[in-house]
Amino acid sequence: MATVKIEALGKLHEIANFDCGSAALNQWLKTTARQHQKNNTSKTFVLVEEQSPTVPQGFMTMAIRNLTPSGDLPAAMAKKLPANVAGYTLARLAVSVHAQKRGYGERLLFEAMERVCLASRLVGGFAMFVDAKDGAADSCKKYGFVELPSKPDVLVLPIASMPGFPDR
Ligand SMILES: CC(C)(COP(=O)(O)OP(=O)(O)OC[C@H]1O[C@@H](n2cnc3c(N)ncnc32)[C@H](O)[C@@H]1OP(=O)(O)O)[C@@H](O)C(=O)NCCC(=O)NCCS
Repeated sequence: MATVKIEALGKLHEIANFDCGSAALNQWLKTTARQHQKNNTSKTFVLVEEQSPTVPQGFMTMAIRNLTPSGDLPAAMAKKLPANVAGYTLARLAVSVHAQKRGYGERLLFEAMERVCLASRLVGGFAMFVDAKDGAADSCKKYGFVELPSKPDVLVLPIASMPGFPDR
């Protein structure tokens, strides 16, 4: 695998030709991600290879998410939670068609999980959600995410059950 790094989307990144095979995700990166970055409504991180550090091969977008446990979570997970709960969401995840099946999608997902663990240690937050567009839900299940009963395209994993999250 090439040496890669994941960093915040910035001005230097050339995104005009990014193509992950999903028109909606391409469009979102090109037209909306920077705007959201600026006003802090979501944060987008790009994966770049060492040999072309300004050309993203993948990206993921994270944001805060609120939910109502009784209506949104699997019953067992909702036990003993307050009426409204704060969490985080991996709102978008995409890898360039030329760079898929190299583990980059997994690298971006793990980066998102590390970031929510860190944020949760600092300020709390119950769970991480994934908006699994274009039928990607099954891929997330192998990492422990489970479908929301009311929305099968949205998956959830309590942060306390993520590997590496301390018991305190
Ligand atoms: C979904 C998506 C992000 C996955 O990205 P990716 O970089 O191809 O993901 P990975 O390489 O980490 O894993 C993809 C598969 O390749 C396999 N893989 C990873 N590295 C591999 C390698 N070196 N050789 C062979 N297979 C490999 C993984 O096991 C995985 O298999 P699975 O689909 O059975 O789980 C990408 O296909 C994409 O951008 N699709 C279009 C947009 C989209 O659907 N986004 C999802 C929104 S949630």
